[in-house]
Amino acid sequence: MRGIILAGGSGSRMYPVSRIYSKQLTLIYDKPLIYYPLSVLMLGGIRDILIISNEETIPHYRTLFGDGSHLGLNISYALQTAPNGIAESFLIGRSFIGNGPVTLILGDNIFYGNIDFFYQALQRTSGATVFGYRVSDPERYGVIEFDRTGRAVSIEEKPKSPKSNFAVPGLYVYDNSVVSIAADLKPSPRGELEITDVNVEYLKRGQLFVEKIGRGVAWLDTGTPEALLQASNFFGVIEQRQGLKVACIEEIAYYKKFITRDQFHAVVAAIPRSSYREYLDRIIATDEV
Ligand code: DAU
Repeated sequence: MRGIILAGGSGSRMYPVSRIYSKQLTLIYDKPLIYYPLSVLMLGGIRDILIISNEETIPHYRTLFGDGSHLGLNISYALQTAPNGIAESFLIGRSFIGNGPVTLILGDNIFYGNIDFFYQALQRTSGATVFGYRVSDPERYGVIEFDRTGRAVSIEEKPKSPKSNFAVPGLYVYDNSVVSIAADLKPSPRGELEITDVNVEYLKRGQLFVEKIGRGVAWLDTGTPEALLQASNFFGVIEQRQGLKVACIEEIAYYKKFITRDQFHAVVAAIPRSSYREYLDRIIATDEV
């Protein structure tokens, strides 16, 4: 399985920082936002990763992650010249995807808790899997309607009158048909290739699997400055309480055995003195898993 992180966009809601780079680099408590979706892919065992972004931001991602080899990853980068829609990822990433399946995660989506729902979706060999997460403001998202038996019957993008409270988070697992489906899409009235139109096509084909995510999982929004502050506070509380970091990519690479113990030591040694480094030093000292 290959993974794409879409991490560009105009980010105008995040002005003024968005004049310099896109919001996925803003700090959520102690690390850039993009670490959180990257860690989800890593936890799913995905090591071939394409980061799609704009001209201003790609150099910053390169500085952060390089080619990913120090984490046992293979990270490449691709340019999206304008925010033409989430589904454009599959056209930009066509050669990266090749003939296999692909997982897409939006660079501003954070998941925290038991992510078995994702591990299960990765087992499926054909069709598409999207998730349903109960929210109080579904009109801001793609929304899934279920019939009485719990089967998904429609998906609408930002409907004025949502047919349910179940939003579709920005984590999608597709078989290879996604490439041809994306190639046949027409831009929506807002001028974007819509991810919801991709999912509607899978639904029409009877190939869309929708898994509800339980309330024990946090899917956090990062669409506004207030939401970013809430997410920072959330992870500040968790990390301070447990003494464990969330989305610490070096730790995940080591525990997932993407890198050896020696490689892990070398990675940590290259990190400047900081609380982030102290945390990793503690892992080395105790090698607690
Ligand atoms: O977060 C989940 C929601 O994401 C889904 O429920 C919706 O169905 C889906 O359309 C999307 O809605 P948003 O309104 O949140 O999408 P937004 O335009 O904000 O884009 C999401 C992220 O992807 C954002 O960080 C910017 C990035 N992006 C977006 C577009 C359209 C790009 O990098 N390139 C793009 O062309």
